[in-house]
Parts: sequence; structure tokens; C-alpha cells
Amino acid sequence: MIAALERYAIQGGREGYDRLQVLARSRWPDTRDLFERVGVSAGMQCIDLGCGGGEVTFELTRMVGPAGHAVGVDMDEVKLDLARKDAAARGMSNVEFRTANVNEWDDPAAYDLVYCRFLLEHLGQPDELLQRMWAAVRPGGTIAVEATDFDGEFGEPPNEAFATAQRLYRALVDHRGGDPVAGRRMFRRFLDAGIPRPSVRLVQRVDAEGEAKMLFVLTFRAIASAVVDEGSPPARRWTRHWPGSRRSSPTRRRSSRNRGSFRSGDGATSCGAAPHGATRRSDGRRAPGRRVQRRR
Ligand SMILES: C[S@@+](CC[C@H](N)C(=O)[O-])C[C@H]1O[C@@H](n2cnc3c(N)ncnc32)[C@H](O)[C@@H]1O
Repeated sequence: MIAALERYAIQGGREGYDRLQVLARSRWPDTRDLFERVGVSAGMQCIDLGCGGGEVTFELTRMVGPAGHAVGVDMDEVKLDLARKDAAARGMSNVEFRTANVNEWDDPAAYDLVYCRFLLEHLGQPDELLQRMWAAVRPGGTIAVEATDFDGEFGEPPNEAFATAQRLYRALVDHRGGDPVAGRRMFRRFLDAGIPRPSVRLVQRVDAEGEAKMLFVLTFRAIASAVVDEGSPPARRWTRHWPGSRRSSPTRRRSSRNRGSFRSGDGATSCGAAPHGATRRSDGRRAPGRRVQRRR
């Protein structure tokens, strides 16, 4: 557990939770589309690995209804405590949050939907987790994954600080054993894990205003100490000027150059394109419009 906590690049705890709330609001439409595509429905048993503050777990709970059940798993106890309090406040009894390192998690044939979002790109052994995720799917159930690809993120007009933030974040994830371009590899990884004929989609966001556009700033703050810990002198120079730091310039932040600019992607863990890989473990029943593969 300690090793996993040290490796994860983004600040956890309350700050991490608040950032994920913003992320959840901005990414929900794409995730909802994925759930509709894979057919999340009443009565299903679901698990959400690397659930963070549980926003997606709550949506799953709502979609499966009182006859269903959702489990959120994360290694960050602070986020999970907040999620549990949130569940109590919402009066949800069919949701559960478990503290675990996904690298040690194993729950064979237990779920109708096994899902994770923005997790695999941070792991050193994503293939092993994918295999255990597939093993956790009951016959007739589905595995669905959202993963990011940092190459999908860019700003227009180009902005040097934004580009530097991207470079540092990418280098940090890489250095900590993750994969900044995990998204494009999902299709092959599904096949390598023995998951047949996955259906893949690429989602490219464009955020021209509001909190979604500023998500990269929250992410940048959340990786600051990890970047400096890695000991990069350019990182130290740049972090002094990040928005929110005492030496950043309010005038620059209000610059009119910012109007009409946009950022692709969500500027956070999920930088840009998020290919969705989803496949259904077949019990022989076919669902219209979905790829179904009988498990041999
Ligand atoms: C980028 S966040 C995504 C959170 C959530 N899935 C979402 O989309 O809002 C990644 C989450 O994975 C968790 N995480 C990272 N490595 C983990 C591990 N080895 N075991 C359990 N959780 C892990 C982090 O604590 C964090 O909450």
C-alpha cells in the first residue's frame, strides 16, 4: 500500500477530492455515454476501481437502483471517508467504499460491470489489473475502462506555461512508472489480457470556459510537490509562477489573451483523448447494437 501511495503522482486527500469533484462534473457526459453504450441497468452488481471521491460510483448506484449494488475501491482513505459521508447524506444504502490497493485486489466472477476511469495510466502493471478485472466479470457481464492519452491535450493559442505544465506532468507520470499515452494502448491491452474484440471510442473534449478549462491548474497544483520531489531544477523554477502561488502575477492571469482560448482534454489526469474500451462477457444472449463475444 505504501509503495502505491508513493507512486501515485497526484496529491490525494481533501485537495485531491476537491479536484476530482471538478473532474467528475466535467467528464460525466462522456462517462454516461459509455454506461449507456455498455448497458448499465437495474439490478446490476458493479465495481469502480480507483474510484476517488466516488462520484462515478454514485452514478452507477443510481443507475442500478435499489435491486443493484455498487462498490468503490481506492487506496486513499481520506477520499473514501468523504465518499462514505456523502453516501450517508444521500441516503444510499446500496453503495460501499472499500480501501484497497488495486494491485492486490482480486474478486473473481463477482460483478456484472467491472469499471475504472483514469486509473490504468498511473499503474506500473496495468495488464495484470486488466486480467483480474476480466476475471471479476460474471458471464454476461461487462468490463469498461476509460484511460487518458496526454498527446490529446493542447491549447489554442499555444501557451508556454501550459505546455510546460504538460511536459512536467507527463515526465512525472512516466517517472513514477505510469504511461502518459495509456489511452491509445487500451485496445491492444484488452486483447493481450485475453478480453476479446473490445469496442473502442476516442473522446476529444474542448473546454473553452469555466471550471473544466481551469482543471489543468488544479492538477498542476496537485502535482507540484511530487514534481519538486523528483528534483528537477526547471520544475522548481516553473512552480514558483504557477497560478495560486505567491509569485504568480494576477495581471497575467486576467490577461485578455485568455478570452477565446480553449484547451482540449480536461487538463487533468485525463489530458485530452479518452478512448473507451468496453466489452461484454457473453453468456450467449445478444444485446442489439453491442459487440458480444462468447467466452471460449
Ligand atoms: C485520477 S484519479 C480518478 C478517480 C476516479 N476514477 C475519477 O475518475 O474521478 C485516480 C484514483 O486512483 C487511485 N489510485 C491510484 N493508484 C491506486 C492503487 N494502486 N490502488 C487503489 N487506488 C489507486 C487514486 O487514489 C485516485 O483516487
